[in-house]
Amino acid sequence: MIELLKEEIDHIFKSNESVEDTLYNVCKLLHDKVAHYNWVGFYFNNGDKPELKLSSYVGAPTDHIIIPFGKGICGQVAVSNNTFVVPDVYAQDNYLACSIETKAEIVIPIFKDGKNIGQIDIDSHQVNPFTEEDETLLKYVCKKVSQIL
Ligand code: SME
Repeated sequence: MIELLKEEIDHIFKSNESVEDTLYNVCKLLHDKVAHYNWVGFYFNNGDKPELKLSSYVGAPTDHIIIPFGKGICGQVAVSNNTFVVPDVYAQDNYLACSIETKAEIVIPIFKDGKNIGQIDIDSHQVNPFTEEDETLLKYVCKKVSQIL
């Protein structure tokens, strides 16, 4: 499954579309092909401001277009530079609810020239759905993204 998805991801990155279209197509692929990915989106640092700004996404619209560094799961990853896997969002104090249906979340930072410049954020309607396999796949995606920025 993961190898097939990697091939489809490679195909998207090889199609030489705009960065915006490429990011959208990645979101769409992951959202449509992985049953436990119910919201897939990218946040990037908003210029020099200490905040993240929502870029391409597939899933329900969110109120969290801008997220200050430190706030929510995404804002914490902007500061920690570490992957954050949340098996149960209700167990988190520093969490920004996007949809009532969301039960779990994974956020993986994207590094460019060693600097944390953004992240991929995935919400799931299942409790505790994320495995090492998800982390491997999503880190692969983040590396590919950093190469086109
Ligand atoms: N839940 C995130 C906010 C973004 S939405 O999930 C799309 C957080 O706590 O940072």
